[in-house]
Amino acid sequence: MNRLWHNARLMTLEGRDLGIVEDGAVACEGGIVTYVGPRAGAPNAAETIDCEGRWVSPGLIDCHTHLVYAGNRAREFELRLEGASYEEIARAGGGIVSTMKATRAASEDDLVAASLSRLDALIAEGVTTVEIKSGYGLSLEAERRQLRAARRLGEERNVAVTTTFLGAHALPPEFSDRDAYVAHICDVMLPTLAAEGLVDAVDAFCEGIGFSPDQVARVFEAARTLGLPVKLHAEQLSDLGGASLAARYSALSADHLEHLSEIGIAAMAASGTVAVLLPGAFYFTREEKRPPVAALRAHGVPMALATDCNPGTSPLTSPLLAMNMAATLFRLTVDECIAGFTREAARALGRGDIGTLVPGKTCDLAIWDIGEPAELVYRMGFNPLHARIWRGQ
Ligand code: NIG
Ligand code: FE
Repeated sequence: MNRLWHNARLMTLEGRDLGIVEDGAVACEGGIVTYVGPRAGAPNAAETIDCEGRWVSPGLIDCHTHLVYAGNRAREFELRLEGASYEEIARAGGGIVSTMKATRAASEDDLVAASLSRLDALIAEGVTTVEIKSGYGLSLEAERRQLRAARRLGEERNVAVTTTFLGAHALPPEFSDRDAYVAHICDVMLPTLAAEGLVDAVDAFCEGIGFSPDQVARVFEAARTLGLPVKLHAEQLSDLGGASLAARYSALSADHLEHLSEIGIAAMAASGTVAVLLPGAFYFTREEKRPPVAALRAHGVPMALATDCNPGTSPLTSPLLAMNMAATLFRLTVDECIAGFTREAARALGRGDIGTLVPGKTCDLAIWDIGEPAELVYRMGFNPLHARIWRGQ
């Protein structure tokens, strides 16, 4: 069935800015975009949809989430309000390991049910593709359950799910030695889960309370052997040189980056690694060091944004609020915020088929009740989504 959306103001995201087309139209056939441009030049279609002058953008892409988990960390939030730090709580056996316990105790059905409301919140704001990490199972069986639940979410809803294996997120209680756990990840967990088709990319948490650069490098070697792309939680709490390491492995992205150095920025620029900025985690942990946005910009490092939806550092299910935070807290421009959840997020996932409105790409659209693009970024807690189109439907 071919369709045509017309009488629309388009943000195509083609090129370097928003790629605006006034009085535009988008046509699609079989879920693939066939025309983007002025209404005057649009082809005929079996079905035409009048957008009544609304703005149309690519569907939003949330390129970094830990959406699948059980339980919550509201109590830990209270402890942090009383003065405990994220690292102190983690070292005392709370943090990621407390979510691991709840997640291990949940069935696959439980995980799907618990995660659907979070996914629905993203969808309600125009998300058409979401990346979901494992990392709260920390055993072969429990990581598998998390990844399978993530895949199932993509069957339950009209949304594309891409999965990332984050076995190297924290040390599970069965292991006392981080090197031994890393060996188990490389020799058993990752190859098994990859063979089961559950892994689109591989991530790790490079941090004092996570894994050292050497340990991460072993995980990345295992990913390389399997032909899987890598990404990294890098420089969130301290500078261990994670971004440079990620760049050495041609990582799709390095994420967080509050403590990123000039050396790391230059390495990312050279390897084309995307900087994924996560203002929700920055805000929620009351981090005081901002990611070096001006330097990233100056080096031409592409910047994506994501919710980092997770129970510990960013219980955020609003890409629009993340855009507002990125503008207010990190001084991103409106164009950078919108590109961060579309074109650059696609790049952070290594996906050339989504993120901009161009013929040949997947027809994922968000149709907005706004007067100008800045309204998407400016509001807080208001959702102007009029309609969302996934694969042409
Ligand atoms: O992206 N930094 C590591 N991972 C998550 C937090 C995980 C958690 O605290 O549960 C993050 O911030
Ligand atoms: Fe994260």
